[in-house]
Amino acid sequence: MVDPKALFSFSYGLYVVGTEFEGKLNAQVADAVMQLTSSPVCLAACLNKANYTAELLAKGGRFSISVLSEDAPMPFIGVFGFRSGRVFDKFANVAPDAWHKSDGVPVVTAHSVAAVEAEVVKVEDVETHMLFIGRVTSASVLSEARPLTYADYHKVKKGKSPANAPSVIFNSVS
Ligand SMILES: Cc1cc2nc3c(=O)[nH]c(=O)nc-3n(C[C@H](O)[C@H](O)[C@H](O)COP(=O)(O)O)c2cc1C
Repeated sequence: MVDPKALFSFSYGLYVVGTEFEGKLNAQVADAVMQLTSSPVCLAACLNKANYTAELLAKGGRFSISVLSEDAPMPFIGVFGFRSGRVFDKFANVAPDAWHKSDGVPVVTAHSVAAVEAEVVKVEDVETHMLFIGRVTSASVLSEARPLTYADYHKVKKGKSPANAPSVIFNSVS
């Protein structure tokens, strides 16, 4: 028996993972993001194989991670977390000053406390998802606001997870 409440006791943040391949830009929300090592700094993001972001990142090999802040509005999270870049141009639908390009890769800066850029060093197959392990090439603090936790997204913002998020299992936790 797998009790989702046991998994929900893990702590998660909420992030926007941005990537680019051959001029195509995209980004998605993910909570399955973590730092792995400190020297060199490596981190991992676990993305559903069906996501456009995963497809572009598998080809492009470089990505950004923006750490969302507590004040991130639900419509902003929705653009990156509930729409697919296959059928919706996400960066045409957020303010032009909400993001910038770094070496071609989109980096979301609005409603974010920090942004990190990384290059993929390894990709692991994890059932429905791909685990992208990246070596960090730059990292900067954007604001002193508090980072948004997945628990507060769920409890304070009453947010849910779409079907292809690992956290979809938490939708049943009240
Ligand atoms: C709160 C939240 C957490 C999410 N966490 C993940 C995650 O860790 N990994 C993942 O692959 N998708 C996650 N998603 C789902 C993707 O953001 C969503 O499927 C997105 O539409 C994919 O867009 P794309 O097809 O443009 O890449 C999450 C969504 C939300 C709202």
